[in-house]
Amino acid sequence: MRTFTKVLAVTAVAGLALTGCGRSSDSTSGSTSSGSAAAASGFAADSVIGVSLPQKTSENWVLAEKLFNDDLSGAGFKQDVQFANGGVAEQQNQIDAMITKGAKVLVVGAIDGGQLGGQLKSAKEKGITVIAYDRLLTNTADVDYYIAYDNFKVGVLQGTALLEGMKAKKPNGPYNVELFAGSPDDNNAKVFFEGAMSVLQPKIDDGTLKVVSGQTKFEQAVTQGWKAENAQNRMDTLLAGSYTGTELDGVLSPNDTLARAIITSVKSAGKPIPVVTGQDSEVESVKSIMAGEQYSTINKDTRNLVKETVAMVVALQKGEKPTVNDEKSYDNGVKVVPANLLAPVIVTKANAAEAYANDPTLSPLTK
Ligand code: BGC
Repeated sequence: MRTFTKVLAVTAVAGLALTGCGRSSDSTSGSTSSGSAAAASGFAADSVIGVSLPQKTSENWVLAEKLFNDDLSGAGFKQDVQFANGGVAEQQNQIDAMITKGAKVLVVGAIDGGQLGGQLKSAKEKGITVIAYDRLLTNTADVDYYIAYDNFKVGVLQGTALLEGMKAKKPNGPYNVELFAGSPDDNNAKVFFEGAMSVLQPKIDDGTLKVVSGQTKFEQAVTQGWKAENAQNRMDTLLAGSYTGTELDGVLSPNDTLARAIITSVKSAGKPIPVVTGQDSEVESVKSIMAGEQYSTINKDTRNLVKETVAMVVALQKGEKPTVNDEKSYDNGVKVVPANLLAPVIVTKANAAEAYANDPTLSPLTK
């Protein structure tokens, strides 16, 4: 059921008719064999590996840059790790340059997963294996693998935390809430929102939750570019328009950067801080959680994600098939991309010490 919803979510992002988009049985075998074909030959152990990252919209991307540099060079590769702070055109140019340099694998965290088709096609023509990292590459046949924390699960955990946090503060509803989503060009944003709404929509329907602004659609909730200022401005507007004499109990925030912007807005309006969700376990948000302000975050340990990605690259280098554990959920509009999905963990003040026990940066913040 959940898997089916996730396929629907991705399909909706791709903007395709549901019937036109291959379900798992239609295309899994094709995608798997293209992956194995890419893996069959292997390549030199000191090859160039290109890693193309999006903008620095959250700490996890910055950390990923360092970890890819360390782990790929540690494994003996020549790594080329780039950010595309300037936007989609810059990312396209960087990927072109990586192809020209002779990269054997491209690891791509896309700004807009639907805008790299030309680059991915030339990569495929040169026999390069393409791994979509964290964000799915959409509307292309030229992607071999996907690796990410389970995005739909992230949304489910956020929606559940929002409900539990509000219940702990006020045992009985109805609760007044507002909904925020990420950037519409990032394929993950819709999947996070769909995951959360799978939990929240039934509660809206039965009257437990009231979205006072009436803005319940993804398109109304989005935050262009994942920018804090955009979330803060929208929260300012919502507070002024819908909450002058009304209490706000909770806010669904898709990540920590936006959660802190929402809290800033509420504080400057002189209102009590509602239950606010998040994602990424950013240092400032973990501090905020421990101080009793932000309610929750998600632990998607970037160290594990990069480690698993580098393990996939090493398998390809040896001519082996990389680990995948899900060959049906991530339909990109053209094919179902074999995925290596990691499990996200919800973190509140109650389990922070346990959740970050092996994280030298975050663990001291929980003492
Ligand atoms: C990532 C999130 C991150 C967001 C903004 C998403 O694609 O999965 O972890 O918060 O981008 O950078």
